[in-house]
Amino acid sequence: MEFKIIGNTQSINQRNDTLILDTAEAQVQVSIYSPTIIRVNVTRQPDKPVSSFAVIREALPDLSYEENLHELIINTSALQLRIQKDPLRMAFYTADGKLLSQDDERFAISWQDTKVMNHRKVHPDEKFIGLGEKTGNLNRRGSAYVNWNTDAVNYQTESDPLYQTFPFFIGIHSGLTYGLFLDNTHKTYFDFAASTDDQFMWLGADAGNLDYYFFGAQTVAGIIEDYTWLTGRMEMPPLWSLGYQQCRWSYMSADEVLEVAQGFRDRQIPADVIYCDIDYMQDYKIFTWNKEAFARPKEFIDKLKDINFELVTIVDPGIKIEKGYQQYDEGVEQGYFATYPNGENYTGEVWPGRCHFPDFFREDVREWWGASFCALTDPGVAGFWNDMNEPSAWNQNVPWIVKFGDKFMPEVRNAYGMQMARATYHGTRKLLGNQRPFVLTRAAYSGTQRYSAVWTGDNTASDAQLLLGQRLVNSLGLTGMANVGVDIGGFSGNPTPELMVRWNSLGTYTPMFRNHAIKGSDMREPWQYGEGNEALIKQAIEQRYRLLPYLYATFYQATQTGIPVSRTLAIDYAHNENIYSVAYQNQFLFGDALLVAPVISTVQTADVYLPTGNWYRLSTEQMYNGGQSYTVDAPLHDLPVFVKAGAIIPMQSVVQSTAEKGDGILQLHIWNSDQATSCVYYEDDGNTYDYEQGTYYKRLITFDPIAREIKLSAVEGSFESRYEVVKVILHAFDVEIANKEADNVKAEFVVKY
Ligand code: GLC
Repeated sequence: MEFKIIGNTQSINQRNDTLILDTAEAQVQVSIYSPTIIRVNVTRQPDKPVSSFAVIREALPDLSYEENLHELIINTSALQLRIQKDPLRMAFYTADGKLLSQDDERFAISWQDTKVMNHRKVHPDEKFIGLGEKTGNLNRRGSAYVNWNTDAVNYQTESDPLYQTFPFFIGIHSGLTYGLFLDNTHKTYFDFAASTDDQFMWLGADAGNLDYYFFGAQTVAGIIEDYTWLTGRMEMPPLWSLGYQQCRWSYMSADEVLEVAQGFRDRQIPADVIYCDIDYMQDYKIFTWNKEAFARPKEFIDKLKDINFELVTIVDPGIKIEKGYQQYDEGVEQGYFATYPNGENYTGEVWPGRCHFPDFFREDVREWWGASFCALTDPGVAGFWNDMNEPSAWNQNVPWIVKFGDKFMPEVRNAYGMQMARATYHGTRKLLGNQRPFVLTRAAYSGTQRYSAVWTGDNTASDAQLLLGQRLVNSLGLTGMANVGVDIGGFSGNPTPELMVRWNSLGTYTPMFRNHAIKGSDMREPWQYGEGNEALIKQAIEQRYRLLPYLYATFYQATQTGIPVSRTLAIDYAHNENIYSVAYQNQFLFGDALLVAPVISTVQTADVYLPTGNWYRLSTEQMYNGGQSYTVDAPLHDLPVFVKAGAIIPMQSVVQSTAEKGDGILQLHIWNSDQATSCVYYEDDGNTYDYEQGTYYKRLITFDPIAREIKLSAVEGSFESRYEVVKVILHAFDVEIANKEADNVKAEFVVKY
């Protein structure tokens, strides 16, 4: 095996925005994307064009550098990159000279045949977070991971890899932060000082370039903002998708789906979404409806819409090999499927039996795929669940010789699911006109947030997986995926009633709140667990609906900044050691204001760490001083949720679905603090793209305890709020002025107390 370490710099050139250093082993191309983002692309094929599935930005046009005998130095207003010439080694500093991250002096960038690696020095107190959907602890130090999108059915709490690839991590040490995104869709590796002597961490890829973006913002939030600036942000989801979602593999007929949906209405348990898993299709043929069980899809969906339910249907990539099946015939005729090098269509087996697989790396195939959704959108489907897109092909590794676009499978496997989601998003967006599609995908790569929400695949009904699921959600949030769900209740196995209740109470605080279960498992609807438990699950779902105005404004934030909805405490409290401890690592902020402590189902108390500041227990209004831990009550009906002092939380009364108007009152819950706070309230029609033209309703709400004043700025945007009255509700104030109401004035509105 050939082994090489990058050696001396032989020439230095500049081409427009790029500094080019040649060594005998490779070419190093450096460019600046923003003052806090520097790209380093190390390539052994400098003439080969580079493209990215993830990155949507260009380098800044100018780059200047200084040179002395030993070094090249690139300065931005926030970062300094010092490149030692002989041998070539790189070190990133803050603008004021603090070391952020550097190559390991000995092994730096090196190669074994096609494999490329970068060894980087580790600081004694360094912690690592990120990589998206990865098991293990919040602090990934001491762990090693592989990115290779996999149908990880029944994965365990330590399984790796799972379904998705986000080769982006954040390092935290010495009061500093940095981020690194390795943009490479081959199989990639991250070892956070796990198998080594603690001197270095390494990242690598089976082949391709060592093409990375270094982020130097000095907060985790700033790094996420930059990463999502580079790779894109989600757009506003349809409001209905933020309601409660009921899924199962499968509700077997239209009648059964309608009966379940009606079951929610009869019991006054709020819900917005119901799913059809694979059995709605005829013989699992994508874009068909089962001729008997789902004989009249439009009629069926109209009935669902009549009771304010939206339908989401599953699609898998595998197209059944069957002459006369439209998608098969068209795909074969037009050559839309992935092929072997001799041009024959690749065949793999999935639910329908033997299948071909659309080549989503080609624009014409994406167009075709997208247009095929008319079979679903015509009768009224608005949500599209993309599954099995790692891609999964049973009992085999997809052969390496299979071609996608002009590349072989190993080069692009990790982006296949993303390209399917991309095709689905663009196609359904076109078909739905001005209506927002809801897209959900199981496999993903960096940048998928532009097209789709994700969920964490086939988990299991266990307490350990409830906690793991939360870490996965929080970790996905670090890598740009704000809209994330887990199978509440656990896909495989049967949850105990206690676990079901507990998991649903956490579902309230999960960006996408969806119950789902494997075929053959016990029925999982909220009323399957006895009256007492039904009441508790209903209570959890009702709380979700009360919080929807807050949640929607939080999603708006994600669209503007990339900051996720569920936030590991490492975002706001990166340098606080306590939050990384195994006891507290599952805690998270849900939006700006709420701290949630997940609790397993077999205990009734919880050890909770509250960061600096004052906090109130949501259920009791009891105040806690932060900066310490507490053992608190955690009965099944009361998950520990704490409100940050100064929080401004817009809420509403319970409605049965997001389509219901409700009582027309927007409640502004304000929790006392001695510090001034503010929040952005955002609303729009929840369903169209009119907000892009200014049809939204936005106002800044500020709370000033010194001036004893709560102010709502004048409204920005032309949308008429769905609420007629704003009601201010004060918590933990020592004055009796609570419940001040005002008409939903557009002008500035001030409450003095
Ligand atoms: C896969 C999915 C699961 C789905 C099942 C049947 O296992 O992950 O959610 O229910 O396929 O379509």
